[in-house]
Amino acid sequence: ENTPPKFQPPHPALVFHVHATSGRARYSTLHLPHGPVSTPVFMPVGTKGTLKGLTPMDVINSTALDHQIILSNTYHLALQPGTELIRNVGKEGGLHEFMGWDRNILTDSGGFQMVSLLKLAEITEEGVAFENPYADSADKNLNNEHGSENDAVSSGNKRPGSSDSIETRKSQRMLLRPEDSIYHQNNIGSDIMMALDDVVSSVETDTNRFRIATLRTLRWLDRCFSANRRPHDQNLFPIVQGGLDISPGGLRDICLAGFRLRDDKAPGYAIGGLAGGESKDDFWRVVDHCCRALPDNKPRYLMGVGYPLDLVVCTALGVDMYDCVYPTRTARFGVALVDGEAPGVLRLKGHNCAEDYGVIMKGCKCMACFDGNGEVGYSRARLHAMLKNDSPLAVSLVTHHNLAYMMTLNRKMRDAIEKDSYGDFAKSFVREQYRGKE
Ligand code: GUN
Ligand code: ZN
Repeated sequence: ENTPPKFQPPHPALVFHVHATSGRARYSTLHLPHGPVSTPVFMPVGTKGTLKGLTPMDVINSTALDHQIILSNTYHLALQPGTELIRNVGKEGGLHEFMGWDRNILTDSGGFQMVSLLKLAEITEEGVAFENPYADSADKNLNNEHGSENDAVSSGNKRPGSSDSIETRKSQRMLLRPEDSIYHQNNIGSDIMMALDDVVSSVETDTNRFRIATLRTLRWLDRCFSANRRPHDQNLFPIVQGGLDISPGGLRDICLAGFRLRDDKAPGYAIGGLAGGESKDDFWRVVDHCCRALPDNKPRYLMGVGYPLDLVVCTALGVDMYDCVYPTRTARFGVALVDGEAPGVLRLKGHNCAEDYGVIMKGCKCMACFDGNGEVGYSRARLHAMLKNDSPLAVSLVTHHNLAYMMTLNRKMRDAIEKDSYGDFAKSFVREQYRGKE
């Protein structure tokens, strides 16, 4: 553990070391260019290069947080402030320097955000075409405190191909091709980049659309690999698509077989196309199927998943990495994650918190629950009053708590795997979550 990782070809920017397994759950260290990451790991989402309500120092200086990796989004950064601006900052350039974060960053490729955020996104073989949400009205920009030009839609003669990357066409029509996604992620300098995948909306009923998307995801993957200008220090993960079809030779299998042919190029893999409203049964089946088919010697990342219960179950199926806006977003609604109180969440704005002088969760070492001197921190009643007054500090405190909760959960999972008692841990976690129900 103390020996530095030997980054070697064919994956010069990633070493994956499994320490222990329990059933199919694994405890490992992922060595990346900006330091080691213990898995299973939950990666908090800082969409625009910042975790809402927290500074990088809040995270690094807090033993309750101390995250080794966070996630950001190519799509948002390319629109605001633009990835050329990010690349050109300071000495080294890139998002680490831009946001003052010297630990690892993973970036999503942009396709999913466009499909989930922009109903008007149109996908062709070339890439994802969409309306620039920032360009249609100056007022909108002002409301969002963004008044400046951004480089995503202007100059770009250094970009791949002959045209702009996110390109202004016919009014505010823009295009994100696989080459553009990698171009932007290379500018950002993320430790793990995601391939641009063809993400099908979960409400899609046309099965042929899923087939097209799966095959296109494979073709786009090749374009992504070819476009990567920094394979020596930036990892590129393929994303398994294929809807809910896990039949032998079905869409997930076609995708997985395609990845097997390209396995020498992939330092790790992601599982996508889930957490979009499918049943838990379907969700678990697809995760199980993909984990069994993916190689054991590479990390597996389940995209967009972040409910504590899902982490516990999917880790048992062999997933190593997760990300989700849930813990941070729900904090902004005054909802705290808790153990020992079904259903695992506490609505701090609820009446029952108004006169509750206890902390969010006893034993929690976060900034809200613990003041560092062995004294209790903020009471539920106090947080309730602050949230009722729209206090940004209260939102920050609940965000702290929820991220600390996820960190503690990760640590408990790793400990249980190390002791080879993950099954018992998972059972008692599930029992706890459902206590008081039915
Ligand atoms: N985030 C959650 N699901 C997905 C997915 O399927 N693809 C990408 N690129 N990002 C995601
Ligand atoms: Zn706490």
